[in-house]
Amino acid sequence: MKRRIFSGAQPTGRLHIGNYLGALQNWAQLQSDYDCVFGIVDYHAITVPFSPQEIKKRVFDCAVGFLASGIDPEKSIVMLQSLVPQHAELTWIFNCISPVQELIRVPTFKEKASQQKGNVNMGLLDYPVLMAVDILIYKAEFVPVGDDQIPHIELTREIAREFNKRFGETFPEPKEIVRPRMLGLDGTNKMSKTLGNCIYLDESPDEIWKKLAPAVTDTRRKKRQDPGEPNDCNIFKSYHKAFSNREELTYVEKGCRNASIGCLDCKRILFDNIVKELTPVREKIERFKDKKDYVMDVIIEGSKKAGVLAERTLREVKQKIGFDYLS
Ligand code: TRP
Repeated sequence: MKRRIFSGAQPTGRLHIGNYLGALQNWAQLQSDYDCVFGIVDYHAITVPFSPQEIKKRVFDCAVGFLASGIDPEKSIVMLQSLVPQHAELTWIFNCISPVQELIRVPTFKEKASQQKGNVNMGLLDYPVLMAVDILIYKAEFVPVGDDQIPHIELTREIAREFNKRFGETFPEPKEIVRPRMLGLDGTNKMSKTLGNCIYLDESPDEIWKKLAPAVTDTRRKKRQDPGEPNDCNIFKSYHKAFSNREELTYVEKGCRNASIGCLDCKRILFDNIVKELTPVREKIERFKDKKDYVMDVIIEGSKKAGVLAERTLREVKQKIGFDYLS
């Protein structure tokens, strides 16, 4: 039997190469060796201001991005969190064993609470508990995530441990499989839609080049003839390393250090590789966007399968806490 993985993405709209390299590409690779459940976590997404029409569109775009990146509904379960209400129910139970003094210390909570002072809602505080449920309700042993999610996985383990201690061995303590979050084209901030420092998966080669050409490199390399330091260059470190092969890496690394190539030469090689990797993804995005019924069917059927697994765990939990009226 394969071991289980759960991971989730918030439906934030258009996907960018940070989502692809940091998560989706990796998920697609993991699905042959693990029994995977991938969630579009829309209940998480409503902890920040949202609009009903917009979120529906984003859920769809997110599902399209999953499929275009190679997530295969024949191999993995693709589910929508709000279609599996067991998540919400188990969250209530977990709430009652989760210490508030720890939740208020979670870095993402502190950050969001200071960004949206007028909307420090309960969901924001409860975000990590719902996330623990996403993972534990499928008894997942591994969770591929970005490095910013590590505190959430630690809390998930604590909740599992606490439940097991009080009510008997029920949940495994899941481990994270970490990928660093990718820096944006500005070379300082993580790739983020609001900062506008990203390349989107559905952008044309022309659009990609327009963004890549002026992207920040080694800031001390001011003139073409100055030698550069690849290890101080975000384009080399985050981008070339992700898209180029070993020979190309050696070539640009040397060429940069002895100034035999300029930053634009280096970026042209990168550009070709990005286009090579992303063109099939972009084409699939276009294709799936036209197959609305198919995509929605994948989510609905996947959520039904997830619901069966989730219900099994929820029953076990209810039995263990003495809520066994129907069994
Ligand atoms: N918090 C995660 C993020 O923003 C999304 C998420 C929700 C998730 N539930 C999860 C990730 C469970 C992994 C497992 O990236």
